[in-house]
Amino acid sequence: MSNEEQLSLFDLLPDGEASTRSAFGSDLIPTSAKIPIPPGTYQTLDQLANHCNKCDRCRLGDTRIHAVVGRGNPQAPIMIVGEAPGQNEDETGLPFVGKAGQLLEKILAAVGLSSEKDVYICNVNNCRPPNNRVPKPDEIAACKPYLLEQIRLVNPKIILLTGATAVKGLTGDKRGITKIRGTWMEWEGRLCMPILHPAYLLRNPSKESGSPKWLMWQDIQAVRAKLDELNS
Ligand code: URA
Repeated sequence: MSNEEQLSLFDLLPDGEASTRSAFGSDLIPTSAKIPIPPGTYQTLDQLANHCNKCDRCRLGDTRIHAVVGRGNPQAPIMIVGEAPGQNEDETGLPFVGKAGQLLEKILAAVGLSSEKDVYICNVNNCRPPNNRVPKPDEIAACKPYLLEQIRLVNPKIILLTGATAVKGLTGDKRGITKIRGTWMEWEGRLCMPILHPAYLLRNPSKESGSPKWLMWQDIQAVRAKLDELNS
């Protein structure tokens, strides 16, 4: 279907958002990033994931095995947002299942958090970039509605942004991750904390005071304390 044909779907629909929703529901997928995916499009994460596996809004759709949407508890109080799937994730369709993901699980477990109960994990981009390169701005923009819809549906109390790409992709903040990690920030009324990416920790194994692993330990303890405070 051409862009024009897809856009014309919107003309035919009488009531804006609700009608748009039913159009997508009947499997008419806006395959151009120029066509918006409005908030409220999806009623469930399954619908969203289904749609992502047919998505062609950017070139990353051409080379994926699976679109990688989310894993964990869809009602979790904490959402963790990564950059983009790697090879293991592309093969399995699940985010953070490779070495970085295993380390992430250990970090969470160290403060009594489990990815099944307390956390929902997703990425700024749902398809693997070739050779694991950083996703390009137009790819991030094409995928952003899916991230926003996941945030709306999961409605987490805390969002952890792992690495600079996640921070920039969601909030637009271009500051270096080492400057802003461990600080609470507000985005669209939501409580967010940038943290180091677990892959960065894998490349820096030191546990010395001030090392990336040490900093992560400080940050995850602050997250645990904030969650306890919000729950009390
Ligand atoms: N790195 C990420 O940022 N996301 C994944 O899903 C895996 C590795």
